[in-house]
Amino acid sequence: MASKKVQIKKAVFPVAGLGTRFLPATKANPKEMLTIVDKPLIQYAAEEAIAAGVEELIFVTSSSKRAIEDHFDKNFEMETELERKGKTQLLEVLRNVVPKGVSCVYVRQPEALGLGHAVLCARPVVGDEPFAVILADDLIDGGDTPCMAQMASAFAYNRCSLLGVEQVPREETEKYGIVQSDEITPGLSRVSSIVEKPKPADAPTTLAVVGRYILTPRIFDLLETIPKGAGGEVQLTDAIAALLKEEQVLAYEFKGQRYDCGSKLGYLRATVEYALQHPELSQDFLDYLHQRFGENGDKIAQLVKQAG
Ligand code: G1P
Repeated sequence: MASKKVQIKKAVFPVAGLGTRFLPATKANPKEMLTIVDKPLIQYAAEEAIAAGVEELIFVTSSSKRAIEDHFDKNFEMETELERKGKTQLLEVLRNVVPKGVSCVYVRQPEALGLGHAVLCARPVVGDEPFAVILADDLIDGGDTPCMAQMASAFAYNRCSLLGVEQVPREETEKYGIVQSDEITPGLSRVSSIVEKPKPADAPTTLAVVGRYILTPRIFDLLETIPKGAGGEVQLTDAIAALLKEEQVLAYEFKGQRYDCGSKLGYLRATVEYALQHPELSQDFLDYLHQRFGENGDKIAQLVKQAG
């Protein structure tokens, strides 16, 4: 691959899914617009991409997801009002939803044919270069170096497709793509096989793919040709299984804490944890925990942190 293409400039956000696990909240509101404290999940995902050097955010949407487009659009009326009232800090917050130099593109996924199909819908915009895929309901707190920035560095060095992975309890393998891999260095391994949502008894390992991928454009050709897989859908996992027969694919164990915000419990954990870290809220929230749980307040905050 030519060295000038080493930086990942484009990120794909598949956001066409229905989000039935959060009904009725997601009846008229996209699941990616659910907020953790004061930001929607999709904005955390966009910020993670931008921190990795991404300049083009490609959203694969469906008809019920207009709120996402509005969120990343300029809100002229609100900006004028904030300006008039001299609320400069809030104005900055609003303007920084899409920082200068970053653009948004929207592509429609006309039918719910699976994650692989959603990624394929982005092909005309991505073109012939490596790109990132971020699933917004996997919220990852990577600390100083967000997960995709960690992966972009690993990509710059290895120049091949990378999957963000972490160990999961065996009883949860049915929720994830599961990889088998050979360690290269601690935290980085070469993928030898990948299977979508195996039953715990059939799972070759417990190393699960989370919603972070860096993929070479070859994946598009494979997505076009693979047969439908699990659930009658075009599975990204199946295309990756085909890709690793042709190219090296690495599994990258990111540093950080993932919250499965596609589940109510994961969503609540993320809310508590992000509230405890929020510059304006953390002290008041801790005080509330103390009032509510007495001396156990600190302990609870600690337990939430550990449970992730
Ligand atoms: C998708 C992928 C799966 C991956 C998971 C990560 O599943 O198909 O391989 O492990 O995202 O969150 P979904 O959660 O959309 O069912």
